Amino acid sequence: MSRDQIEAHLKFAAELGVTGISRDAAWRVRRPPTLADGESTPAAPLPDDATTPAAMPVASAAPPAPVVPVTLSMSRADALSLIKSDIGPECTRCKLHALGRTHVVFGVGNPEARLMFVGEAPGGDEDIQGVPFVGRAGQLLTKIIEAIDLTREDVYIANVIKCRPPQNRNPEPDEVERCEPFLFRQIDAVQPQVIVALGKFAAQTLLRTVEPISKLRGRVFDYRGVRLIPTFHPAYLLRNPASKREVWEDMKRVKRLLAEERSPAQ
Ligand code: URA
Repeated sequence: MSRDQIEAHLKFAAELGVTGISRDAAWRVRRPPTLADGESTPAAPLPDDATTPAAMPVASAAPPAPVVPVTLSMSRADALSLIKSDIGPECTRCKLHALGRTHVVFGVGNPEARLMFVGEAPGGDEDIQGVPFVGRAGQLLTKIIEAIDLTREDVYIANVIKCRPPQNRNPEPDEVERCEPFLFRQIDAVQPQVIVALGKFAAQTLLRTVEPISKLRGRVFDYRGVRLIPTFHPAYLLRNPASKREVWEDMKRVKRLLAEERSPAQ
């Protein structure tokens, strides 16, 4: 890392209110993979732990089970390739294909990631490059990832919907409905230990709730056996920099959860 990059990193950390950074690289080590049980577990707030504020019931239904279950003999990378080819480069399942989409934006990162980020939908830069979170919001997401001593290559990043809505409007219910099964399959393929849902659409889609993100963030949920942390979307942070402090609190919790998963209490 260059001196400029280190300075930029420290400046961002200071903006977030970071008071210390771990130099311990050991926490990045992934636990040996465990078998997915294939069961559909209702998304629900986890019972409180030392770091979890009071949880409130939010979830009404679990997302459907994957359309094509990932077989236990298949590597995570192969499972992701299969899902990508199932979507196809010219997907026409919803109207977005006819509304100016350039690329289907699948997902990027480490198929073995312990940490997965889920955003809303590709924006203009993502649509052109075919890669999630590469525009301004993506650059902020990269800094957020680096603030907990990880890189984009350590994590997996995907969106609820894979095609850009025109003028970056909100995804519409029929678009989410057609596309979300692929996200659920991506999560099942990667088997992360922690999911960060970036913003309202990701959190509401994964938790099957209509609660606003302001009520969801600050809590730890269960998504099919995976810990899920809702937080503000980086695009929101670009407009509301004061909320970076809350996101930093959420990311510290993510880091603690990953550390706990690495060395579970005896
Ligand atoms: N916003 C998102 O939610 N996803 C992207 O990929 C880019 C911006």
